[in-house]
Amino acid sequence: MTTKNWIQKNTRSLAGKTVAVSGSTGGIGRQLCAHLCDLGADLILLDRSRERSVALGESLRAAHPSLKVSYITVDLEDMGAVRSAAEELLRRGVDFLILNAGAYHIPRHRCDTGYDNVFMINFVSPYYLARRLLPHVASRGGRVVAVGSIAHGYSRTDPDDIDFSTRKKSSKVYGNAKRYLMFSLLGLREHRDSVSVTHPGITLTNITAHYPKLIFAIIKHPMKVIFMSPRRASLCILAGIFDQRSDGNCWTGPGIFNVWGTPKLRPLSTCTEGEAARIRETAEEILGRVETENR
Ligand SMILES: NC(=O)c1ccc[n+]([C@@H]2O[C@H](COP(=O)([O-])OP(=O)(O)OC[C@H]3O[C@@H](n4cnc5c(N)ncnc54)[C@H](OP(=O)(O)O)[C@@H]3O)[C@@H](O)[C@H]2O)c1
Repeated sequence: MTTKNWIQKNTRSLAGKTVAVSGSTGGIGRQLCAHLCDLGADLILLDRSRERSVALGESLRAAHPSLKVSYITVDLEDMGAVRSAAEELLRRGVDFLILNAGAYHIPRHRCDTGYDNVFMINFVSPYYLARRLLPHVASRGGRVVAVGSIAHGYSRTDPDDIDFSTRKKSSKVYGNAKRYLMFSLLGLREHRDSVSVTHPGITLTNITAHYPKLIFAIIKHPMKVIFMSPRRASLCILAGIFDQRSDGNCWTGPGIFNVWGTPKLRPLSTCTEGEAARIRETAEEILGRVETENR
């Protein structure tokens, strides 16, 4: 099925709805924003670079002259900025919050909260935004849509090394943070109908461009051919706004081997009930800490 056909069959107008997208300046984010504009949504772009954010907003407006777009600058490593962004989102009003920003193979350090920066960007900050915004979006019939990853299955969480700060392998550090994000949000039973967990499969963006230069130069072109384009992969995130909710743990991603094809909602059986309960508990402890500390 073509991207256009899938959109026609599986989405509806978002006219009058406000969608906030984090990481809109990234490979998937900008394609997702283009789809959202086609559906008539108003956008709030949540990015760490205001300049890139505004450039994106202007290019979207060039194609959709009636687009209402505004900006919030936030670095997800900075808890103070994340708290302010949440308050600003509540003030402006949001129907859908898409937690799309993410980072994989980046220089590591400890943030002011005491957590590893990869854990902050991929879990602590998006979890805080989700918890703060959920009652608000739910009251408007909207949702929080989180972007997970296949990498969440690379290892189990470790209560003795919550943010994996002692681990070296990027895939595991990133996967652990995504695992926290996915199962903490899926565990919010009272908001079950207002949370979607999605993933894009594998697509060539900055996040997948982390290999040594020579290797990347060799694999770049085959990757473009083998994997879906960011435009098509972003359908899986868009689907999080519209897919049917179900009772068990589910996520939406590419239908064929979680890598190719149109979005499909499917069960997630990669975490035991015991581990998921521990993730939920730890997530709430972290939330309590970052809500009050470093103010
Ligand atoms: N591409 C894939 O194959 C793949 C697979 C599984 C999951 N994902 C997930 O898909 C989402 C989008 O990733 P992508 O593929 O589009 O990668 P990308 O092109 O690298 O985009 C990542 C976005 O996150 C933003 N970001 C990174 N660190 C940030 C920080 N400290 N504060 C605020 N924003 C920050 C980036 O901002 P800048 O523009 O300023 O750099 C960028 O907009 C991520 O959650 C990623 O984990 C991607």
